[in-house]
Amino acid sequence: MTTLNNGVPIPQLGLGVFQTPEGEQTVNAVRWALQAGYRHIDTARIYGNEESVGQGMRESGLKRRQIFLTTKLWNDDIRAGRTRQAFEESMDRLGTDYIDLYLIHWPVEGWQKAWEAMEELYTQRRVRAIGVCNFQRHHLEELHSISSLKPVVDQVESSPIFTNQPLIDYAHGELRVDVEAWSPLGGTGTHLLSDPKLAEIGARYGKSAAQVVIRWHLQRGMIVIPKSVHKERIEQNFDVFDFQLSQEDMAAISAMDTGRRVGADPDDFDF
Ligand code: A2P
Repeated sequence: MTTLNNGVPIPQLGLGVFQTPEGEQTVNAVRWALQAGYRHIDTARIYGNEESVGQGMRESGLKRRQIFLTTKLWNDDIRAGRTRQAFEESMDRLGTDYIDLYLIHWPVEGWQKAWEAMEELYTQRRVRAIGVCNFQRHHLEELHSISSLKPVVDQVESSPIFTNQPLIDYAHGELRVDVEAWSPLGGTGTHLLSDPKLAEIGARYGKSAAQVVIRWHLQRGMIVIPKSVHKERIEQNFDVFDFQLSQEDMAAISAMDTGRRVGADPDDFDF
């Protein structure tokens, strides 16, 4: 458990459901994760699977308050100035009466107004915490200059191939904002997990490449939300609390950084 800068606790490891389609796949992934011990699910309006996330949560048999639930405000809703409505729609689809963490998904035109609306949701206790995604340092600085309410997190791309370390150091240091890693395993379509270096490190701990990478995120103080639709992998990805990577292994993994993003550039994107 990590404590966010507004005092709300968040499980440091959660399940991500990007590219997990509405329907049985998402319902199962969420239910399997919760049964395996996860207590944190990260979705978004644009993933199109909020109904299934809600169903998986209900099928898990856990109480709503035992689960930390994140969803995100999509770009079109930010541009259209319909934060409040989009929030209510997400809640309806999820079948819940509060969200633990509500995030601005990308810094598109109008995000400042959206933040004001999110501040209202927060002061009215409809959400337990609010934050942002894909904010660069300059976005965080602008937010700091216009609002007295800090985001609790910035969710950004980060993995061994694109560590994003300077931004993370800035957020953790001066700002005291937690950072969540998306595509923490390198996302779909990279070969990070088949890199022999990770297998070699993992072999020394009796762990897989994925477990090594998740552990690396945890030890650098990140909140991490790996995605999988496979039961065995979902369980494996949570089995990372019984070993500790050495300083040398931490450094070796960080040294895999290519400086190249896998996903979109927050300063240059067209969606
Ligand atoms: P799948 O859902 O088919 O298991 P990220 O979290 O960085 O977005 O990356 C997730 C990618 O890594 C997905 O393609 C996912 O595929 C795969 N993946 C997740 N966990 C594991 C694991 N333990 N071993 C191998 N691949 C994994």
